[in-house]
Amino acid sequence: MLSLSPTLQARLSQPLKIGSFEVKSRVLQSPLSGVTDLVFRRLVRRYAPESMMYTEMVNATGLHYVKELPIIMEVDPNERPISIQLFDCRPDFLAEAAIKAVAEGADTVDINMGCPVNKITKNGGGSSLLRQPEIAEAIVREVVKAVDVPVTVKTRIGWNDQEITILDFAKRMEDAGAKMITVHGRTRAQGYNGNARWEWIARVKEVLSIPVIGNGDIFSVEAAVRCLEETGADGVMCSRGTLGYPFLVGEVDHFLKTGELLPAPNAIQRLECAREHLYALWEYKGDRGVRQARKHMTWYAKGFMGAAELRGQLSLVETVQQGLDLIDRAMEKLAAGYEPEEDAQADLVVV
Ligand SMILES: Cc1cc2nc3c(=O)[nH]c(=O)nc-3n(C[C@H](O)[C@H](O)[C@H](O)COP(=O)(O)O)c2cc1C
Repeated sequence: MLSLSPTLQARLSQPLKIGSFEVKSRVLQSPLSGVTDLVFRRLVRRYAPESMMYTEMVNATGLHYVKELPIIMEVDPNERPISIQLFDCRPDFLAEAAIKAVAEGADTVDINMGCPVNKITKNGGGSSLLRQPEIAEAIVREVVKAVDVPVTVKTRIGWNDQEITILDFAKRMEDAGAKMITVHGRTRAQGYNGNARWEWIARVKEVLSIPVIGNGDIFSVEAAVRCLEETGADGVMCSRGTLGYPFLVGEVDHFLKTGELLPAPNAIQRLECAREHLYALWEYKGDRGVRQARKHMTWYAKGFMGAAELRGQLSLVETVQQGLDLIDRAMEKLAAGYEPEEDAQADLVVV
């Protein structure tokens, strides 16, 4: 049976202190480009009201040249705690963007130093900053100077296996003024493949005084607890495990606070959530929202008889009504012959 060791319990009983800002949960929802918009965050927050959430990453150069704020930077005035994540390689543009982020309501500003995508790294942003620590330091210093809220960094363990530089890099970020660092335990070369190497998160924790958040392969409550135990991290951040499963952060949070495992939602409850997600995306973004909802709906439709066929249909929907009808029909079928054993929780893991 899953349990929390007394030492872990004691460690997690205090709020997470990000500089002057306190968060009452040790589990965070990661920034996910194309996913963690206002609608998704609202669903996650229903189950994890005290968790820190992140916007999708926002391009600081784009913000400099375009007057209007992008929709991905939009924050609901009622959603707290919230961090706006920025990416770029120019300290001046990032400082300017951070001021806008704070005006929009950000409790903290996070700098992306981990994105592996070529389009970002070839312009000097994301994980390429691991290879340019002086620029990364200058970024943190300038952003810290520009805003009153805590500045945080999210990064990886290194560029590749020959360049695992996280220990030196993390210390530099702390010295430059970062108030928390999230470490995704993979190199840039790994992309999202292979295991996250939590042992590096443990080593970062040993050399820093600021909070260290463990990230990578947190697909279940059990994995979250194991990561906290093995690394000594101050918190964990859930990522792909939340795709089509906005319950995960709340499940982990509940367990860390009470030692009690919540029952997993069944297939019908997950489809109800998919339905709500689709409708809310359509209300928020119109037909573009429906196109964005396709991937979400296919992530929800897992772990029950007929799920594969449903995924194929959902991936092609053109209108909100088509999507709602498909989900309603699937829920009716499940309600008619619903066998809880058919719910294979393991099948929910999205890779
Ligand atoms: C679809 C997708 C979008 C992502 N977008 C971002 C992003 O905007 N900013 C960021 O820092 N990381 C982003 N990431 C990385 C995740 O936040 C996380 O670090 C990574 O997925 C490792 O955790 P996991 O193994 O639990 O998924 C993204 C990952 C995925 C799969």
